[in-house]
Amino acid sequence: MTTATTSQAKALAKAPTLAVYPGTFDPITMGHLDIINRALNLFDHVIIAIASNPGKTALFTIEERIEMIKQCFPENESRVEVAAVSGLLVNYAMQRGAKAIIRGLRAVSDFDYEFQLALMNRKLEREVDTLFLMPAFRWIFISSSIIKDAARHGGDVSELVPEHVNQCLKDAFSS
Ligand code: COA
Repeated sequence: MTTATTSQAKALAKAPTLAVYPGTFDPITMGHLDIINRALNLFDHVIIAIASNPGKTALFTIEERIEMIKQCFPENESRVEVAAVSGLLVNYAMQRGAKAIIRGLRAVSDFDYEFQLALMNRKLEREVDTLFLMPAFRWIFISSSIIKDAARHGGDVSELVPEHVNQCLKDAFSS
């Protein structure tokens, strides 16, 4: 009995840890990448989940966003997965065996909305917790929308997004 319990505990301790990082990612920014790298220091695997926010109209298709995110990681990056998620995020997290949802907190202004989201997710599924991570200071002022707005008007956003994303923004606004 004691031996079985100990070996079960060992097996549990060895189970890979998994977190879901949801968002619109339209497009992915250096701030998002900062959060993903922090999450990779805490979890064995991170699923970047492109979820829908009914309040937003995206510039890039889901397929384009998936491709842009995938290109941020080397071919052999087995610890990162990118997925399009429909339906409730917590249901997806449970299906995948993820006990944590990662969200980035940039400033106090994010807090109200993030608090609401986290509490609603907990109400819907008590087994999934939300973990807030702060990006590096230099990314706290950026968002996908503000980057798109700057790029739309010809502003230089090359330091704020990966190179291939910068090119996609240029292509999108070139016509
Ligand atoms: N660096 C840069 N930007 C960041 C950032 C960071 N570290 N962290 C957040 N942001 C920005 C994003 O770019 C985004 O900017 P935008 O508004 O200009 O697009 C904004 O902060 C927050 O958006 P995002 O993280 O993409 O979340 P969201 O509010 O668009 O999406 C979902 C919320 C998709 C996670 C939520 O609607 C969801 O879970 N949907 C699935 C359905 C569901 O379960 N609904 C019930 C939820 S209780």
